[in-house]
Amino acid sequence: MAESGLRFEVDGEIATITLDRPDKRNAQTFATWSALAGIGDNLPEQVRVVVVKGEGPSFSAGIDLRMFTPEGVPGQGSFSSVARSGDTDFEHNIRKAQAGFLWLRRPEIVSIAAVHGHAIGAGFQLALSCDLRIVADDVKFCMKEPALGLVPDLTGTKPLVELVGLAKAIDICLTARMVHAEEAMRIGLAEQVVARDDLDRAVRDKAAELLSTNRDAAAATKRLLQGARARTLEEQSVAEGLEQAVRIKALFGG
Ligand code: ACO
Repeated sequence: MAESGLRFEVDGEIATITLDRPDKRNAQTFATWSALAGIGDNLPEQVRVVVVKGEGPSFSAGIDLRMFTPEGVPGQGSFSSVARSGDTDFEHNIRKAQAGFLWLRRPEIVSIAAVHGHAIGAGFQLALSCDLRIVADDVKFCMKEPALGLVPDLTGTKPLVELVGLAKAIDICLTARMVHAEEAMRIGLAEQVVARDDLDRAVRDKAAELLSTNRDAAAATKRLLQGARARTLEEQSVAEGLEQAVRIKALFGG
């Protein structure tokens, strides 16, 4: 965990993942993503809400810039070493990194990114991998990858397009500009904007609201909502009926 720059705490039904390398603005490495995946694999069953937040002035300044140097990150290589690896290794490593982000969408949990300060590149994508984003009024989202010759590949492109639409996603990514709190709220990137000092309290309040509903009904409803876009109205109606049959039997089946 120390190498990953993460802290992980569980308090009842709420788990908190804290990016904890504030002196380096919570820059992320392969060890960070591997630890994130490990948390997902071992998440205690009672957890229903996962909060992802950052220590210090920034949520996260993205990938550790040492990856761009010939020396790289000690023990984890560099983009030069990645470029020299075979295609299979390369794809395998990207899939492994992405696994750290993808589990945050599981139906059994609701993930909340509590975002303040800079959320750049991998930091922006980590926020996008959560179900909800509650942001401080000093937030600055930036999809920096295209400015550095890269593409966003940590699972962020699909949620970004789904949240803000294709045109706005193109604008944000292909200019690598900053998106501040007011715009984030207006375009649907953020659910709520609060003063920096109120961020923790706002996230706690949202977690309490989320925990007030029935656990199994919440998971089933999230499954329905997640599948809605890909289904026709007719297919979605069928899916609703199937999930409801399970709920009614569980509640009244004796
Ligand atoms: N990787 C490694 N170290 C970093 C990173 C990073 N991504 N970002 C900041 N740091 C380090 C700085 O080198 C500095 O270290 P030092 O004190 O040892 O010199 C320390 O964190 C503080 O950084 P400052 O730049 O002084 O902090 P400031 O608050 O003024 O600025 C900001 C913050 C805007 C986030 C700036 O640090 C920055 O632009 N960072 C790089 C962002 C970036 O390009 N990320 C890659 C995106 S692409 C991707 O993620 C795939």
